[in-house]
Amino acid sequence: MKIVHCSDIHFGTEDPAIVRALESRIAEIEPDLIVASGDFTMAGRAREFAGASSLLRRLGEATGSPIVATPGNHDLPVYNLLARFVRPLGRYRRWMGAVSQRAFVDERVAVLSLNSARPWDFSLNWSNGRLSTKQILEADRFFAASADVPFRALVVHHPFHVPEALPGFRRIGRCDEMLDVLARRRVHAVLSGHLHLREVIARDMDIEADRWTVRLVQAGTATSVRERDGSERNSFNLLRVGRPGGLGAETDGVPTVAIEPQVWDGERFVVGDAAAGASG
Ligand SMILES: [Fe+2]
Ligand SMILES: [Fe+2]
Repeated sequence: MKIVHCSDIHFGTEDPAIVRALESRIAEIEPDLIVASGDFTMAGRAREFAGASSLLRRLGEATGSPIVATPGNHDLPVYNLLARFVRPLGRYRRWMGAVSQRAFVDERVAVLSLNSARPWDFSLNWSNGRLSTKQILEADRFFAASADVPFRALVVHHPFHVPEALPGFRRIGRCDEMLDVLARRRVHAVLSGHLHLREVIARDMDIEADRWTVRLVQAGTATSVRERDGSERNSFNLLRVGRPGGLGAETDGVPTVAIEPQVWDGERFVVGDAAAGASG
């Protein structure tokens, strides 16, 4: 099974040539599922959402695959403060809700997305994002109900791990509480974005008398040319999930997961090197 994980497309700062290349590479991959982990726009403007929504609709039509999406901090209105506090997800729901879904479950995969973007926060930097008690309980229920599905993943915009090279960022609020739930429910991966930096971390967790590994998978920015220092090229992730017990799979019922970065080389997206910090 193939899952495309893209993030931070940031319409408003997108490069049209990269958008076209993204579409043709994803069509070529023929994914079974597309996951988009937030920051579809720069400032939550209607014209930015229109562009992002149109891209997702075209991707869905070209591949026939379902799309699971979640908002990022840039998808809340920046300039309309009334909308920001009264209906922060109004535009997101109108534009992105029409072309994506919050969750997807079939006989092979169960994916739940949760909104971690907040219009304000008691912390100094609301853009770091957080999870609520209600969301942690929702994840617990969702993954308990889908325990028999071979591959299970949570999608959120904000990261569960921040590399030391990015001192201004912090992990998503209530990260450890959610990780405990994910390990206990034997969830395989967290798919996120926000840092514009691709990374895969294998987080080993203790559960009762056992251990469980949750992969923390970060996607870079797929199409935005607004880069921190220009050193990270545009990219997205392709997850190849092997069938438990099938050819090339582990024998204990855990599916194999290979994460293949797709990196912009100036003309097209090509298979790149493993992400920095990759360990699983
Ligand atoms: Fe972003
Ligand atoms: Fe973000």
